[in-house]
Amino acid sequence: MTFRVAAGNLSTVTQRAKRIAVIPGDGIGKEVIPAALSVIRAALGTKAESAINFTEFDWSADRYLKDGITIPEGDAGFTKLARDFDAIFVGALGDPRVPTNIHAKEILLGMRFKMDLYANVRPVKLLHESLCPLKKVKTADVDFVVVRENTEGLYVDAGGVLKMGTLDEVATQEDLNTRKGVERVIRFAFDYARQHGRKKVLMCDKSNVMTFAGGLWQRVFKMVAGEYSGIQSSHMYVDALCMHMVRDPRQFDVIVTNNMFGDIITDLAAALQGGLGMAASGNIHPGRTSMFEPVHGSAPPFAGKNIANPIGAILTAAMMLEHVGFGTEAAKINAAVLSAVEQSMTTQDIGGTLGTKECGAWIAKQVS
Ligand code: NAD
Ligand code: IPM
Ligand code: MN
Repeated sequence: MTFRVAAGNLSTVTQRAKRIAVIPGDGIGKEVIPAALSVIRAALGTKAESAINFTEFDWSADRYLKDGITIPEGDAGFTKLARDFDAIFVGALGDPRVPTNIHAKEILLGMRFKMDLYANVRPVKLLHESLCPLKKVKTADVDFVVVRENTEGLYVDAGGVLKMGTLDEVATQEDLNTRKGVERVIRFAFDYARQHGRKKVLMCDKSNVMTFAGGLWQRVFKMVAGEYSGIQSSHMYVDALCMHMVRDPRQFDVIVTNNMFGDIITDLAAALQGGLGMAASGNIHPGRTSMFEPVHGSAPPFAGKNIANPIGAILTAAMMLEHVGFGTEAAKINAAVLSAVEQSMTTQDIGGTLGTKECGAWIAKQVS
């Protein structure tokens, strides 16, 4: 039997709470995530309990060193994340006690690949002139978004080693690019531009040298660009792009690129915003459970000292909130971060004197 809800009653039907899986991970991830969670709770105010349920997972180096588990197999791992949650909030993974980095690969790259989170969206926005290492740059001059392909390329771990440890050793690392994978991320970039009022999409590759993969990216980019008449399309080789990014970041709007170049140029771009502590990201597959994480890593030398900048994680929390339908709270958080930066209520890496907890608490107070 089917039940119908009378149209007039729809507004009174209460929405179920959003479910967020939280994986603080390693190092400073364990400090910036609690700071960001306190900001989310403060922004939601009295509706915090009914609006969002957080479930924490201990997947990390500690857990791996304890029982060898990186991410549980079968139903308790990626299947659970995709089925039972609306979004995933991750700190960072990487620990010198696990030199192979196996847990980070299996958890972080596992989510990106096995959950098919094909678009890694990394906004780059300067919040205060003093944070940019470039001369005479205004805040409006650094405002672009990198869409990084997130499931293919040099990251697929295809390749091998022959004659390991000998003088004749041979190592290969293959760069895998599929027509489907390239097309969907390029389309994502154009759709993103359209939805966010951005006017230009630039594709970045190294097709002058890597002619096979680059050729595919070039052909697909031209084809897709032709379908988006209101958006200007252009191209740059990755080496030239790095030069332009520090000479004149104003020219960029949306950049789409492959997995490896996207990783590299977003660290460079993070520096334009004030450093890795300021950069946010979302790993997105439209319509599926997506994952949100600051761009920075676990920064082992900073861990446990209450000095890590929580703003990258807090801006990431705002991206996640917007994604799951809390746009008002996301906007409040973004505004509070801007005030924190303007009033130097920040950590030392960007010129403040506060600790991680204190910076998080200051921002939480602004949004409550
Ligand atoms: P990192 O991002 O951890 O740190 C590099 C430097 O950036 C730090 O030394 C620090 O100067 C600065 N920095 C980073 N985050 C900061 C913050 N929140 N506040 C202030 N300064 C900050 O990169 P790394 O040192 O190359 O890597 C450390 C570990 O993290 C490695 O195991 C690496 O594989 C891993 N990693 C994980 C992720 C991730 O989980 N998403 C991302 C990058 C690196
Ligand atoms: C990032 C990180 C990861 C990457 C590492 C930790 C696997 O550098 O998210 O930028 O290379 O994608
Ligand atoms: Mn990186």
